[in-house]
Amino acid sequence: MDLRFGDSKPTDEERAAVDAVLGPPDSSWEGADERSEADLRWARGGRAARERRDLLLPGLHALNDRVGWISEGGLDYVCRRLTVPPAEGYGVATFYSMFSVRPRPRTVVRVCTDLACGGAELCGEVSDRLASTSGVAVEASPCLGLCERAPAALVVRAGPMSSPAPPSSSSSAGRAEDPTGPNSARPALEDERGARSAPPAFEERGPGRSPGDSNPVAAQAVVAPATPDTITATATAPETAPAEPPAALAVPQAGHPGLILLDRIGTVDPSSLDDYRTHGGYTALRRALAIGPADVIREVTESGLVGRGGAAFPTGRKWGATAAQPDHPHYLVCNADESEPGTFKDRVIMEGDPYALIEAMTIAGYAVGAHLGYLYLRGEYPRALHRLEHAVAQARARGLLGDDVLGQGYAFDIEIRRGAGAYICGEETALFNSIEGYRGEPRAKPPFPVEKGLFGKPTAENNVETLVNVLPILTMGAEAYAAIGTEKSTGPKLFCVAGSVERPGVYELPFGATLGELLDLAGKPDNLRAVLLGGAAGGFVRPDELDIPLTFEGTRDAGTTLGSGVVLALDDTVPLPRVLLRIAEFFRDESCGQCVPCRVGTVRQEEALHRIAGRTGAAAADDIALLRDVGRAMRDASICGLGQTAWNAVESAIDRLGAYE
Ligand SMILES: Cc1cc2nc3c(=O)[nH]c(=O)nc-3n(C[C@H](O)[C@H](O)[C@H](O)COP(=O)(O)O)c2cc1C
Ligand code: SF4
Repeated sequence: MDLRFGDSKPTDEERAAVDAVLGPPDSSWEGADERSEADLRWARGGRAARERRDLLLPGLHALNDRVGWISEGGLDYVCRRLTVPPAEGYGVATFYSMFSVRPRPRTVVRVCTDLACGGAELCGEVSDRLASTSGVAVEASPCLGLCERAPAALVVRAGPMSSPAPPSSSSSAGRAEDPTGPNSARPALEDERGARSAPPAFEERGPGRSPGDSNPVAAQAVVAPATPDTITATATAPETAPAEPPAALAVPQAGHPGLILLDRIGTVDPSSLDDYRTHGGYTALRRALAIGPADVIREVTESGLVGRGGAAFPTGRKWGATAAQPDHPHYLVCNADESEPGTFKDRVIMEGDPYALIEAMTIAGYAVGAHLGYLYLRGEYPRALHRLEHAVAQARARGLLGDDVLGQGYAFDIEIRRGAGAYICGEETALFNSIEGYRGEPRAKPPFPVEKGLFGKPTAENNVETLVNVLPILTMGAEAYAAIGTEKSTGPKLFCVAGSVERPGVYELPFGATLGELLDLAGKPDNLRAVLLGGAAGGFVRPDELDIPLTFEGTRDAGTTLGSGVVLALDDTVPLPRVLLRIAEFFRDESCGQCVPCRVGTVRQEEALHRIAGRTGAAAADDIALLRDVGRAMRDASICGLGQTAWNAVESAIDRLGAYE
């Protein structure tokens, strides 16, 4: 593809898709066919267009959703509209795995080949079956965040649908629950939840609901648990995909008394604002508005809440620092990019209790002095997107977002932005670049986001789970919240348990419960070989280490990490070298390539693991020494957490589990 504006023209379909996001072009500089008066005001028009660069990612989504790939003519057009150099537009389009700048069929099947699914063979079989179907492309995918229903696949179909739209979320489509789900032994609760809450499996994109949501129709369908039959059937007729089971089926404890964060999941109708209010919704926001921003920050600080996105930074301190910045505007950003392999807790919250996140974002925005919040959602979560878009629209319509929230004179709104398949965009500064329309490459820190974050302005960026913790802090009070858990790790914590357990799902426990207690709840296998804590960026522990307390300090003292709350159990039938290779492949694939230690180190790590896959002892010694050298360089010299942690799991497998001995 040429890196200058060329002669390629967008098709009518592509032009319509981009115009639906950006509006019709004002001048021929922006790609209009006819010259207009505005052409004489080029300088002003150019600056105005450049200020909309953050619409580049939604514009690329629009093209991809409409025709299934991004052609030279389509890219040129969106770049011209936003006065983005096409070379830069190309750099952005090629950064994301959900986009293609080469022609491909309108239907793409993404089969998860990551840790919990291990679907490489499934992917191969589906490719073979669909090889003769020219309208479908099959791709291996990193973790789709559906680990409790592994193996999983996602069918994405661009362009107009061939059949009428599926019924809405409250229709009978929702009753076709999957009786084979992991928790099908809870029929009464399930029926009640399913009837009210399950939307169709096939999530449509309708026009004009958000900047990323501009196309006439495009759709995604989740297939999980997936078989070659269900994937091929969905790929060829996605609109007939069976409904997804209710989000509550991912919560084995659903309905148990004592839950705090998961309390509403399975009892509240996720599509109903009224039901959310009936179940205590918006009590926390009312209290926040009554006590004022400074006291909200004080409560959050005294609660001891620390971030649940992996870095465990104190939330009250982050909010206080953002609120204190003299520069304006301030922004709030919710990180819902959830792409750490094995992590799916944020998805379950967003699908099962979406208004909780909207309320929590409103409180956070109020506390830090922001009037606009961005919710950056990973591109592979169709049901979460559907529910959040609905929740935002309802909250707006009912005065819970907008110019005068709850009639208290505070203005706040939320914009949802879709990611497009890039794990690194979960790193907070990469996420800002992604929203701003640049490649999702992490920025050097300092300056920290509280000072210069999104659009160079003070920004509080928080994980979904962190934010929803603010609701109980405000309703029960900081002191009562801080009494949960341990002195240094306060409150409840969500854990994503998957792999070789009987009841995979999201579990809520107070900090301080042991790993063994959690695994007992989930149904630990007799032949447990290892547990991966914290995801690909985390580390392995042995079956004789199950008394590790699940706290930040407890896991640190044990030489491991809680990370994003992944607890992946592996029994002794799972080939460890293959798991390590998958982890290495993941980091090599997901490295943004910006810094040498990570770009080269992740390649060398994968190569060494390939070489020693079938070796042990002396035959593996040289490569293990090389792995240690490379790992040290990545940890010490990488710019961001991806490179710094890319060797953690492999190191722990060698040192703790005796891999390759
Ligand atoms: C490679 C990488 C990926 C990350 N992915 C996520 C993610 O998906 N979700 C998230 O909340 N934080 C993620 N983080 C952590 C964020 O950079 C940031 O620390 C966090 O969102 C801050 O929110 P918190 O204070 O509420 O935890 C990631 C960090 C790195 C280095
Ligand atoms: S450590 Fe890796 S992912 Fe992070 S900036 Fe460097 S190359 Fe990019």
